[in-house]
Amino acid sequence: MKAIQYIDEVEIKNKRVLLRVDFNVSLNPNATIADDARIRQSLPTINRLLENNNTLILISHLGRPKGIDKKYTLKPVAKRLQEYLGQKVTLVDHFETPDFIKEKGVYMLENIRFFPKEKDFSTLFAKKLAGLADVYVNDAFAVCHRTDTSVVGPPNFIPGYGGLLLKKELDMLGQVIKQPKKPMVAIIGGAKVSTKVGLVNKLVKMVDYLIIGGGLANTFVCAQGREVGTSFCEYESVQLARKLLALAKGNRAHILLPVDVLVGEHKDSKTSEVVKIDSIPQNKSIFDIGPETKAQIGCILAKAKTIIWNGPVGYFENPVFRQGTDFIYYSIANNEGVTSVVGGGDTLAAISKKEYLDKITHISTGGGAMLEFIEKGTLPGIEALKR
Ligand code: 3PG
Repeated sequence: MKAIQYIDEVEIKNKRVLLRVDFNVSLNPNATIADDARIRQSLPTINRLLENNNTLILISHLGRPKGIDKKYTLKPVAKRLQEYLGQKVTLVDHFETPDFIKEKGVYMLENIRFFPKEKDFSTLFAKKLAGLADVYVNDAFAVCHRTDTSVVGPPNFIPGYGGLLLKKELDMLGQVIKQPKKPMVAIIGGAKVSTKVGLVNKLVKMVDYLIIGGGLANTFVCAQGREVGTSFCEYESVQLARKLLALAKGNRAHILLPVDVLVGEHKDSKTSEVVKIDSIPQNKSIFDIGPETKAQIGCILAKAKTIIWNGPVGYFENPVFRQGTDFIYYSIANNEGVTSVVGGGDTLAAISKKEYLDKITHISTGGGAMLEFIEKGTLPGIEALKR
């Protein structure tokens, strides 16, 4: 059977290594780094390759620029990495040939999405990237669900290996998917039902409880025949949501939707009101789960043995509406024996008291990648490394 070889299973010494990382960190409005967890999580791979006297050529994307956009330069990222490594990281704008490699060390190509051929897969571009190095290493789990050129292309031309972060992510998620301890609970937020059909289909066959929150829940609430006032709702997907609810009945999963919620006039409201799910005022929107829903979720999470969580359940940016999301976080942190996997940048951003993060078994660097891996069991970037 084809498998990935990881960098701790082979000898990579005195080579030029093209290292795909995901340093798509969240930025503050003034373009400084808000959270550098993704940089820190790839340090074991970078350090291991450097200890073996390799020269590194790092590739990452940042944001979703359309062409060159200085707002998304990797400059602050290169600077932060330099601080962590205690050695120079040279940011490279032009890499037609490997001529920029003047001496051994660490180089970082400027945001790979500045080049249109990154998103628009190109064999020529893949060949050019591969031509910079002797081997390719992918440590960018969070972008492995994309078929971007730097994610799937280079291993067609030079030997490709998995990095240590990729290994950790696949070990942890694989364990949770293949042999989950029961009861198993998944909590998913997000907005659109239409982008989550495959995932919900898979989860209802896999978990004992599927807790749906955030904007996503509103469409399901509509599917139950209820009014949601001025709340976000994907009306064109209500029928789809109804089908998914019916499907869950035939499977093992119990789908839990809010029974009460916090509503407000708008997302920045200074006050909120608790209402039952069948009494949403016409002029108000749902922004968080209510106390009765929290109590139900609390009971389920307290006895869970495996929990997967992706997506806040309320509009956490406003402190008035962050209680539901915080409650879920505390409930997971308080369950001593549980195996818990939390993923997605917005989920982590939503967590206010970071001091309990060590109570989470695995914090995945992937959001979309984690969900797609759960749904499909593999990802394009993973397949590209297998041989
Ligand atoms: C992420 O943050 O989920 C990854 O870096 C992928 O980014 P993308 O959704 O812009 O492809």
